[in-house]
Amino acid sequence: MRGVKVLVVGSGGREHALAWKLSQSPQLEALHCAPGNPGMASLGNCHPVRADDAEGLLALAGALETDLVVVGPEAPLVAGLADHLRRAGIAVFGPGGDAARIEGSKTFAKEVMAAAGVRATPTLPIARPPCVIKADGLAAGKGAFVCRTKEEVDNAIARASELGESLVIEELVDAQEVSIFALCDGREVVPLPAAQDYKRVGDGDTGPNTGGMGCYSPFPGVSERVGELVEAIHRPVVTELARRGTPFVGALYAGVFLTDDGPLVFEFNCRFGDPETQVILPRIDGDLLPALAAAAGGALTGVSLAESDDAAVTVAMAAGSYPERGDAGAPIDGVEEAESAGTVVFHAGTALREGRLVTNGGRILNVTGLGNSIAEARDKAYAGVERIHFEGCRYRTDIALGVAEGAHVG
Ligand code: GLY
Repeated sequence: MRGVKVLVVGSGGREHALAWKLSQSPQLEALHCAPGNPGMASLGNCHPVRADDAEGLLALAGALETDLVVVGPEAPLVAGLADHLRRAGIAVFGPGGDAARIEGSKTFAKEVMAAAGVRATPTLPIARPPCVIKADGLAAGKGAFVCRTKEEVDNAIARASELGESLVIEELVDAQEVSIFALCDGREVVPLPAAQDYKRVGDGDTGPNTGGMGCYSPFPGVSERVGELVEAIHRPVVTELARRGTPFVGALYAGVFLTDDGPLVFEFNCRFGDPETQVILPRIDGDLLPALAAAAGGALTGVSLAESDDAAVTVAMAAGSYPERGDAGAPIDGVEEAESAGTVVFHAGTALREGRLVTNGGRILNVTGLGNSIAEARDKAYAGVERIHFEGCRYRTDIALGVAEGAHVG
């Protein structure tokens, strides 16, 4: 059988993790990335085409005779990149623009959930504390504001309005959060390992929301019943989207509160999580490539991916001014030392300048440790973090701490 030529679209830690896992597939013939990053360049060929350049990606996929395009980030999906490629006959792992609205509009997601009978965080008619204020559209994880005081409400309305979208006001729910993923082929759903993300920038869940400062998997007590959760949450939504003529093909990501009354969905995303992917994929024992190809081809029936017994913890090393701003050009040292110490280092916001690895973004690196337990994986991840240096680096010191000690935080 001829091998598979894959093009991974994107340049962050999630895309590096996807490229890393796909590069292990015996079915892979060629791995290409657009635009990729220095970490991805060590696994495949990087091409200078941006993720938002649909015409450029179509031309690239054609020139490379790509069998499968895997789209990492949400913005090109919401903008219709997958439709553009599919219309040209190219197989894509990633939803079309209409289905990607499940992430592109919180109002649309709520409407779909209501039709599908999936419990969503209740919407409030007016912004009064306590509540959560969200920008309706895409905001790179920075469009949700937890408000416990009138002052926080005023500030959140101003900040969320700056994002140029209408606002959604929700009840403030005090419960554990978990990220639950399924591969979808438009009809069928295949569960992936669950993870818990740490969204706030500072230790002890302080400071503003970010794209995610760290993650761990498995999530004790949830991972054992992830199939059941996917049946209750993802399957009815995928069925509803198919009923509307907008089938969802790709990774469907539900952000779920675990309440005493059962799971409550606070968001859907139309792609793999970042940094969840950096702990989920190292915990998949099987071959990801045929599973993604099957999803893209509408053939997921009978496919399953085995979850390893290992635990994984990833720590995001970010620019000092993240999430307000990123950083560019600061030399990064110690990545090879961290890898020699047994961690997997995923590049998130890096570049090569005159052969030197430098910072180039908000979240710079994700350092993933694997072990027999979350405590062991955590120790490994932080052993890697301690070997890496760049000016202004910030990271949380409490990723997976509670769960490693037997209590949940996050
Ligand atoms: N980790 C949150 C996200 O990917 O949106």
